[in-house]
Amino acid sequence: MSFKVVASAPGKVILTGEHFVVHGEPSLVMAIDKRAYVEAVTEERKVRIEAPDLNLYWEEGLDLPKPLAPLKLILERLLEEAAKPVGLRIKVRSELPPSSGLGSSAAIAVAATASVSKALGIELTEDEIFELALEAEKIVHLNPSGVDPLISTVGGVIAYRRGEGYVAVEAAVQPIVVVGFTGSRKPTGVMVRKVERLRKAHPEVMAPLFHAGGHLTIEAAEALRIGDLKRLGELLDINHGLLSALGVSTRKLDKLIYLARRAGALGAKLTGAGGGGCMIALCSNEVTADRVARAIERGGGQPLKVKLDNQGVRLEK
Ligand code: PMV
Repeated sequence: MSFKVVASAPGKVILTGEHFVVHGEPSLVMAIDKRAYVEAVTEERKVRIEAPDLNLYWEEGLDLPKPLAPLKLILERLLEEAAKPVGLRIKVRSELPPSSGLGSSAAIAVAATASVSKALGIELTEDEIFELALEAEKIVHLNPSGVDPLISTVGGVIAYRRGEGYVAVEAAVQPIVVVGFTGSRKPTGVMVRKVERLRKAHPEVMAPLFHAGGHLTIEAAEALRIGDLKRLGELLDINHGLLSALGVSTRKLDKLIYLARRAGALGAKLTGAGGGGCMIALCSNEVTADRVARAIERGGGQPLKVKLDNQGVRLEK
C-alpha cells in the first residue's frame, strides 16, 4: 500500500534584528502567506526527490544536486527511524522565490519533515520537526541562527533570541508588507562574516550599535502588539540605518527603500542578510501597498505583497 501526504510551511520576512540576532540580540520575524508544499508518497524501495519549479531532481544512484542535500538528509533520518523496507518519492512545490531571503529552503525542509514523517507513520512534535529541519539546514548554512526553520514551523510573529528560544507576538493589526527583490543575492555566510570582521575591527563603535539593534526589536514587538504601525515603521527605518552602518546595504537596496518611503510606506528596510536580496516596506493599507509595489517595480525591483500567516507547518487535506 502506498501513502500520500502533503504538508506545507510558510516562508518569512525578518521585520527587525537580522545580523544582530547572530550575536545574541533578539529578532522579530513574521511568517508570510506564501508557502512551500511537499508531497510525500511511499513506494517500492526507491528514494526520489523532485523539485520541478527549481529544476532539480535526484534519485538513488544519481549525483546529488547540492541544494537537495538537506532533503536527502531528512529522508535518510526518517527512513532510518521508520525501519521499514519502503521507498519514498517527494515532490516540492513552492510559492517562495528561491534564494531571495524569504526562507524558501527552510520552509521546504519543514514541510518535507512533516509530510515524510506522517507518510512513514512517525509522529513528530513541532519541536522535533524544527530540530530535524534545522539539522538539515546546517548542511547549506554553516552557522544558521535557526530562526528560519523555527518560524516556518510555528507561524505567526515571533521574537527570537538565539540559544534562548522565542515568544509569540500577538499582532493587534494585520501588517501589510511589500517585499522588493533586488534580483541578485550574496550568500548569507559572506554577509555574516563581513559584519563579524567589522565588529572585531571596531569593538567600541559597534557595541552600542548592537545594543540599539537589540532594543529596537523589543520596541518593535511592542508596537506590533498594540497595533502602532506608525511607530513600527519608524523603528524599521532606524533598523535600516543600523544595518547600513554594518555595511550590508547596497545602492540598489537603498534606492528601493527610498522609493518605497516616498510612495507612502510607514517604514522600509533591507531584510535578511543584505548585500542584495530583499527589502521590505510596511504599509498602512492596500492602496498604499499597491502604490509602493509600483514604485519598487519602476525602480527595477520585483515586488511581492505579503501578509502575516498565523499558521505554521500543517498537513494539507
Ligand atoms: O536572508 P536570510 O534568510 O539569509 O537571513 C539571514 C539573517 C541573518 O541574521 C543575517 C543570519 C541568521 O542566521 O540569522
